[in-house]
Amino acid sequence: MRSNETPTATVDLFADEDQQPARTEQIGEQSFVLRGFALPWVERLLPALEKILLAAPFRQMITPGGFTMSVGLSSCGTLGWTTDRSGYRYTRIDPVSSQPWPAMPEVFRALAQAAAQEAGFQHFEPDACLINRYLAGAKMSLHQDKDEKSYDPPIVSVSLGLPAMFLFGGFARSDKSQRVPLFHGDIVVWGGVDRLRYHGVLPLKEGHHSQLGAQRINFTFRTAG
Ligand code: SIN
Ligand code: FE2
Repeated sequence: MRSNETPTATVDLFADEDQQPARTEQIGEQSFVLRGFALPWVERLLPALEKILLAAPFRQMITPGGFTMSVGLSSCGTLGWTTDRSGYRYTRIDPVSSQPWPAMPEVFRALAQAAAQEAGFQHFEPDACLINRYLAGAKMSLHQDKDEKSYDPPIVSVSLGLPAMFLFGGFARSDKSQRVPLFHGDIVVWGGVDRLRYHGVLPLKEGHHSQLGAQRINFTFRTAG
C-alpha cells in the first residue's frame, strides 16, 4: 500500500450467506450455477408455493423398484411428475387429489424463464414444475431427467432454504461427479450437450433456515410435454 492511501477496513457486507451478490459459475459446457439469482423473487415465490401445497400437499412417492422416496414431492403446471410401482411418468391429474395439478404461478414461470435466459437458453417455456421437499436426511440418488418428450429445453432447478450438496455427474452413473454446494436462492441450469447428465443430492444436514425452517425446497422446471 502506498503511504498516502488509507487502509480500507474489510467491511463484510455479505456476511449472511443469503445476501451474496448474484454471480455465475460454470459447471459444464452448458451448465451454470446462478448464485443468488432467485433471492429477489423469494418474497413472491413463497406465498404462491403455500397455495400450491394446500391443493397438492407433499407426499412420499414409491419408486418402480418399491422404495419410498425420502424427498416429499408435489408439482404444479400442466404436467406433474409421479412415480409408483408401474413407473415414472408425467400426468395432468394429481393421483392424490384426482384434480389437475395446481397451475404454475406466473412468478414461477417468469423466474424459470429469466434463469434459463441468463444461462443462454432462450424462450424456455416450462409446463411442469416438480417441487421437492428435503428434511434432514432426505436425499436424491444419482439419476438423469429423461421422462420429458424432448431434451432440447434445459432443466432449471431452484434451491430454497437449507443448503445442500448437489452432485453433478457425467453421462454414466459411474462417472465421477462434481460436488456443488447449493444455498438459498441459487439456481442451477443445465441443458444442450449437458441435458442428460446424472445428478443427485447428498443427505440433507440438519439446520434451521430463517425463512424456511428445517427444510430445503427445490423447484425443478422442465418442458415435459
Ligand atoms: C432433482 O433432480 O429432481 C432435484 C435436484 C435438487 O433437489 O437440487
Ligand atoms: Fe433430476
